[in-house]
Amino acid sequence: MKLLLITALLIIIIIIVYFFKKAYLNTKDIAINKIEINQTEMHQPTLKILHLSDLHLENISITPDELYGKLKDESVDLIALTGDFLDRKRSIPKLIPYLEILNQLHPTYGMFAVLGNHDYVLKGKNLNELTQTLEQYNCKVMRNETREIFIQGTRINIIGIDDFSTKRSNLEMSYKGLKEGYNLVLTHDPNLVLHMKNYHFDYLLAGHFHGGQICYPKAYHLVKMGKLVRMNMIKGLQRHDDKPFYISEGLGQTGVNIRVGSRPEITIHEIGLSKIISDEIRSVI
Ligand SMILES: [Fe+2]
Repeated sequence: MKLLLITALLIIIIIIVYFFKKAYLNTKDIAINKIEINQTEMHQPTLKILHLSDLHLENISITPDELYGKLKDESVDLIALTGDFLDRKRSIPKLIPYLEILNQLHPTYGMFAVLGNHDYVLKGKNLNELTQTLEQYNCKVMRNETREIFIQGTRINIIGIDDFSTKRSNLEMSYKGLKEGYNLVLTHDPNLVLHMKNYHFDYLLAGHFHGGQICYPKAYHLVKMGKLVRMNMIKGLQRHDDKPFYISEGLGQTGVNIRVGSRPEITIHEIGLSKIISDEIRSVI
């Protein structure tokens, strides 16, 4: 009887160890997703964005060198980082080699970031140290503000809206003085889209949900993370009020460094700048 119990216990331990090992290996199985928006001859020029989210440097399995290996052949117009870099001050130095390799990609129009709820665990001078580190490595940190870039004469408004889940989003401030152009929004928590009926965007990039991270049989634990989850929008390309937005599954993990039913993600968005072209066509007509 005792032998039977020991055998049963050993089998349970082996199953648990196997499960965790497999779930940990999933965190190394990076998906590179290519998303095309308005990719037709009519919609020119094209804006190519490298989008990374939720690095969570305390629990990231891909090294900076491995990340560079996956991206070195991509030529990108801009890099968008949609928050949750870390939640401990001691992780700030770990961010530097990732920023160095992103600089090596030489994005034509630069690198832009917004902060996430985990970044705001840092306060005062520690939070400043995080934003200064990002800025020092050529990454513009956007907190309810807009920057303009021009691609072949087309104005792109890069609108960085601060984190919605920690009540830091200020839409009015973010859109202040905005001129006609293609509105690209960067924000951490995609639930913000439910409050943007009066604030036009052409495309919005976000993260926050980690694709559930542990989705077995479903990502029930996400229920407390806002209405969008209850609308079954937790990852990938989505639409609300007929406006497209994208939710990255993120590159790192929170809590335990495992994934089940989700994969870490690098996203390349290729966007045909339709709005400007359609305006031009309208003016010709
Ligand atoms: Fe996150």
